[in-house]
Amino acid sequence: MSKEYKRTLITTALPYTNGPVHIGHLAGVYVPADIYARYLRLAGRPVTMIGGSDEHGVPITLKARKEGVTPQDIVDRYHKLIKESFEGLGISFDIYSRTTSDIHHDTASEFFRHLYDKGEFIERESMQLYDPEAGQFLADRYVTGECPHCHNKNAYGDQCEACGTSLNATDLIDPHSTITGAVPELRATKHWYLPLDKWEPALREWILEGHKEWKSNVYGQCKSWLDMGLQPRAVSRDLSWGVPVPVEGAEGKVLYVWFDAPIGYISNTKELLPDSWETWWKDPETRVINFIGKDNIVFHCIVFPAMLMAYGDNFQLPDNVPANEFLNLEGDKISTSRNWAVWLHEYLADFPGKQDVLRYVLTANAPETKDNDFTWADFQARNNNELVAILGNFVNRVIVLTHKYYDGVVPAAGELQDVDREAFAEMARLKEELTENLENFRFREAVKDAMGFARLGNKYLQDCEPWKVIKTDPERVKTIINVSLQICASIAIAMEPFLPFMSEKLVKMLGGDKISWDMLACTDLVPAGAHLGQPELLFEKIDDEAIKAQTDRLAAIKKQNEIAAFKPEPQQPEVKIDDFAKLDLRVGTVLECERVKKSDKLLKFKIADGMGEGRTIVSGIAQHYAPEDLVGKQVVFIANLAPAKIRGVESQGMILSALNADGSLRVISPSAPSTDGAQVK
Ligand code: 2FM
Ligand code: ZN
Repeated sequence: MSKEYKRTLITTALPYTNGPVHIGHLAGVYVPADIYARYLRLAGRPVTMIGGSDEHGVPITLKARKEGVTPQDIVDRYHKLIKESFEGLGISFDIYSRTTSDIHHDTASEFFRHLYDKGEFIERESMQLYDPEAGQFLADRYVTGECPHCHNKNAYGDQCEACGTSLNATDLIDPHSTITGAVPELRATKHWYLPLDKWEPALREWILEGHKEWKSNVYGQCKSWLDMGLQPRAVSRDLSWGVPVPVEGAEGKVLYVWFDAPIGYISNTKELLPDSWETWWKDPETRVINFIGKDNIVFHCIVFPAMLMAYGDNFQLPDNVPANEFLNLEGDKISTSRNWAVWLHEYLADFPGKQDVLRYVLTANAPETKDNDFTWADFQARNNNELVAILGNFVNRVIVLTHKYYDGVVPAAGELQDVDREAFAEMARLKEELTENLENFRFREAVKDAMGFARLGNKYLQDCEPWKVIKTDPERVKTIINVSLQICASIAIAMEPFLPFMSEKLVKMLGGDKISWDMLACTDLVPAGAHLGQPELLFEKIDDEAIKAQTDRLAAIKKQNEIAAFKPEPQQPEVKIDDFAKLDLRVGTVLECERVKKSDKLLKFKIADGMGEGRTIVSGIAQHYAPEDLVGKQVVFIANLAPAKIRGVESQGMILSALNADGSLRVISPSAPSTDGAQVK
């Protein structure tokens, strides 16, 4: 930070209310924003953290239509769920409001009108897709079709999710209405466009010259947009759900959701601070920081700043936009529509009291510079090996020893030895590094520094061995415990932005009350003579069963998704009945079944075929059955297939199986016991 600011306004991307929030949202936006806000508060720097729900846009109307309810019903449901789950995780918004509020509608409307009156828009009539059956224009996600770039058949009218290209609905090849399935026709309609090209030189100067310190992923994306050249962008849509366009003759049109949503930051500030909101937006001594995910970069770094420049009146542009990359889940992209996510409200229900564990894992593994993967195995390991074994263990040992040796009363330190001075010096170094990382939005590194206090504590105890020294030099132990308690206090402070629930407990356990960043690394925070609270476990082990429940749930979802996405193989060319008659299909009973040596795919069967001694058949289904499960089962086989040697075994036929959507093979059996050798007709 080159300049000293008086206050910081933190904005967090307003999540769409067409579903709950998941760990991808948390890791990308809300956990880092909360860490930063908590850090600034501890440092005594004025900060306001703005959150809220983004309640407009086509996906919400589509969901409402699908469920047969109103869009308002949908947003009411998810706004409540999202707000409560954020509270549950300790995300410390100063306000969490919504874009269906009156104050937001008024603010967004006024914003548009101001630009309109200043002549900042271009009015254009253009040909747009219209659904003649539904009697409406088809904006954004109301149309699907083939992507002109990657030829994905299910691209949306605003974006192709397969290749990430942002599209206009009219770009789609072979478009269809998602409302009625009808083939849309082109009709003329009028919209308002913000001429981004007009603001391009100012944006270039502001970002490319003025903000070289931005994260390289953010700066790089902005540069590539600017280098491609900016075009006017439509800021209205033909829809009924949204903020009505406040212009005569604009009936049936609303503001484009990406026009009104960022104005939500302003409306929510107004709602929170009706008398001083302008100071938080217009005073050059306010520093605005936008926390967002990488898919929102263009809107926050190009479109919204252009809107603010066009508005004038000293609205401050963001000083930094520390956007994160994406978090994947067990190797796959998180997806609301495919239910491939860890939902926050479900996590809070499944792991009560473990908010900090999720906060920790999402920070330690944050997708700050590249996409990262969340796995339940990593979650368990970080809890058990780091939070329990390092942090919880150190604090617990110190508090228990203080109770054991001194009845919970903090002993006074005697003369310090080198080992004590070194521990304090390391605390000071960690504080410096941690502060530097927090200031620069490097939260992954920062949480490592904070954990460094606990690692230091463990090493210090191990080096000093108070449990041995107590027998030879009890006076010395007083100093060791005192120093250890000071380290505990620093853990409580250093970890507060990351693990606020743990920090609050620990502060109480240390008999403390208020904490501040200034106190971090102090050597006399816990005063001699103070009474400690009772020891309480800060973290507990998470067992394999709890993890298995989660991975089983994901496995079931994966299976459902595979089935939903299953596209049967195209039908084979037609055959005559005589062709079919050439195949001699029979029923047989499996007498024996064993694995073929040195093969993980093949099973060798002995089949009772009703025609004599029975026959041997080799089949590639070893990965789908345990051999013993097939013995006694009836199967259907091709009896007159020319024999073939497979791995040295002569196979006299072929067992028929169904190949399912999830890749599994299932042998075909008659629906009731049948005669061995019976022909399949
Ligand atoms: O991507 C999203 O989830 C958007 N709802 C974010 C909006 S951020 C801001 F502009 F409100
Ligand atoms: Zn594409």
